[in-house]
Parts: sequence; C-alpha cells; structure tokens
Amino acid sequence: MQPEKQALLQKLTAHEKLNKAQWMTLLTDVTEDDRAEAAKAARAEALQIFGNKVFIRGIVEFSNYCKNDCLYCGIRRSNANAQRYRLTDDEILECCDEGYAIGYRTFVLQSGEDFTYTASHIAELVRRIKAAHPDCAVTLSLGEREYDELKLMRAAGADRYLLRHETANAAHYGMLHPPQMSFAHRMECLRGLKRLGYQTGAGMMIGAPYQTAEHLAEDMCFLQEFRPEMIGMGPFLPHKDTPFAKEPKGSYELTLYLLSLCRLMLPHVLLPATTALGTIHPQGREQGILAGANVIMPNLSPTAVRKKYMLYDNKICTEDQSSDCRFCLQQRMKSIGYEVAVTRGDYAE
Ligand code: 5AD
Ligand code: FES
Repeated sequence: MQPEKQALLQKLTAHEKLNKAQWMTLLTDVTEDDRAEAAKAARAEALQIFGNKVFIRGIVEFSNYCKNDCLYCGIRRSNANAQRYRLTDDEILECCDEGYAIGYRTFVLQSGEDFTYTASHIAELVRRIKAAHPDCAVTLSLGEREYDELKLMRAAGADRYLLRHETANAAHYGMLHPPQMSFAHRMECLRGLKRLGYQTGAGMMIGAPYQTAEHLAEDMCFLQEFRPEMIGMGPFLPHKDTPFAKEPKGSYELTLYLLSLCRLMLPHVLLPATTALGTIHPQGREQGILAGANVIMPNLSPTAVRKKYMLYDNKICTEDQSSDCRFCLQQRMKSIGYEVAVTRGDYAE
C-alpha cells in the first residue's frame, strides 16, 4: 500500500477526521491491496464492537406507488410498466407477525412516496405493530415528509428512519432527480429526523450515473459531520424502464471498499450489506459483512408482491418466502463464521 494511503487509513482507524483532499486520496487509484487492508481493519473494528453477531431487519415493502420520478428508480412515477400495489394495514401486520415468529425484532416499513398513507395513518399502524410486538423496533422508510408529520410518527413510537441523502453534491443531486425535487429539502428532512430523536439513516449508491471520486469524497465528508446512526449504501444497478437503463452498474469492489471506510469512520454505525450488493454478486452480502457491515435486511413482503417492488433489474429473493430468506441468511452467515442476532439491534455507543 502506498505510504500516503497507509497513513490515512491509520488516521481513520484511530478515529481521526479526514478532510476532502484526504478522502480523495483514499478514493483515487484504489488497488486490491488497499481494499484488503481497509477490509481487514474494518472487520476487526466490527468484531470488537458487535462480535460475530449480525443484526437482521425485516423489510415490508407496503406500497410501490410513488409521486417522485428519480431517474434511477424502477418505481418512479413515469414507469407505466410498474404494476402498482398497496398492502392493507392488516396485511402489513400479518407480515410483522410472520416475521416475529421467525426471529425478526425490527420491522422496516418501506414504500415509495405514497401520500395516500397520511402521517396519522402511519402513526396508527406503528402503534398497532408496537402493541402487538412491544419488544420490537419499527423503522420507517417513506421518503421525504414534513417535520410535523415526522414528529407525529415518532410520537407514535417509530424508532428509526431511513432516508438516503443519495449524494451530498447539489449539482449531482440535480442530475439524478427531476427539477421538482429539492436537495435542500432532503437535507432539511434529515436534520429534522435527527432532531426528533430518530436513529437516522443516510447513504448513497456507489457508481450512480455521473458520480466522480470527488462526489464520493463529499459524501464521506457529509457522513462524517452528520453522523447518521445507519448508513445504507449499495451499488447502482440499472433498471430497464428508467432513463438510466443503459448506464453501467456500479462497482462491486468499490462498494465493499466504501463499506470498510464507513465502518472505520463511524465505528458504531449500523451498516447493512444491502440487497443490491447481494444482487450484483452472489456472495455480496457475505463479503459485505467481511468488509465491515453488520446488518442484513431481508424481505418480509408477501411473495405475491415482491416482483413489483423492483428498484433495479434482477433483484434477488423475489420468488422466495420470508422463511426461505430467514434460513438462507442464517446459513450464509454461518458459512463465514457469523450468527444472526434475535434482538432489536439499536444503535449504541
Ligand atoms: N440501483 C441501486 N439502488 C437503487 N435505489 C433506488 N434505485 C436504485 C437502483 N437503480 C436505492 C436508492 C434509494 C433506496 C431505497 O434504493 O438509494 O434511496
Ligand atoms: Fe432470500 Fe437467500 S436471502 S433466498
């Protein structure tokens, strides 16, 4: 490893902050050796904090209606080929009950930006889930909402909220989203979530169209300052019915490297080896854990709707039932010497 990079990796391992130029150095001309060194340090850090335990979150994709038109996303409003669906509250509850029985203690309610579910409706749903499963955490992933709405849902018992920032560079944000969407509003939303005491998740795709090493350096600077409790990060994968259909997918290796850097930068962060990582490579989730991730987020949606929640092409597990994924993951973790933890898995320092 180049001495300059080596020194920066050591700085990071000692939990010192890096500036943008230093992040640029770490993110330029990345070699196999760099990745191996970073993964080794990141895995050691994760083992120190979490042992060989991996947290699981069951995702219920309850609606694929979306008022937005993000250029990368398969459930964007203008995709007329998407078959739209909504689950009822009872169906969502059933998914959680099924998940509870097989060891999930966190439920993630995820949807497009579907405003037919008002904040008070979601709040009521959260209350019902919490009443049925008081030992569980509820994570929301509904896109941007106003502060008062976030407040209402938080008061109802929602513990966490996932809202990837997508890119910390306003100009790049503009290239990935239609003009109606606002970078400033997204950032405001993220700050509101933190203020309300949500365990907050930010993150970005690796290899999104037009992304440069400088953008990634800016993402790392943003994450370093914002200190989210969770970071969602996976490779960009094209979807055939979007304007980015012909764009190249992101790099598997670079995604693993960034996972390692995130672990070193924010040692306690809850960091999933994402479904996109499992889609780009058959051993992606295992390798993600070995690179410093500590969370896996399998699907808890009814098999009948899984194919309809296609953010990108070839998403894995769309034919499987919840119990299949649960036990598949148990085996996969075992194969690399890790165990699935049946706990909420909250952020803790
Ligand atoms: N490839 C990879 N990730 C995607 N997402 C949306 N579309 C894609 C895609 N084509 C990610 C976004 C979003 C999260 C729910 O999924 O980062 O925030
Ligand atoms: Fe779904 Fe392996 S995780 S089948």
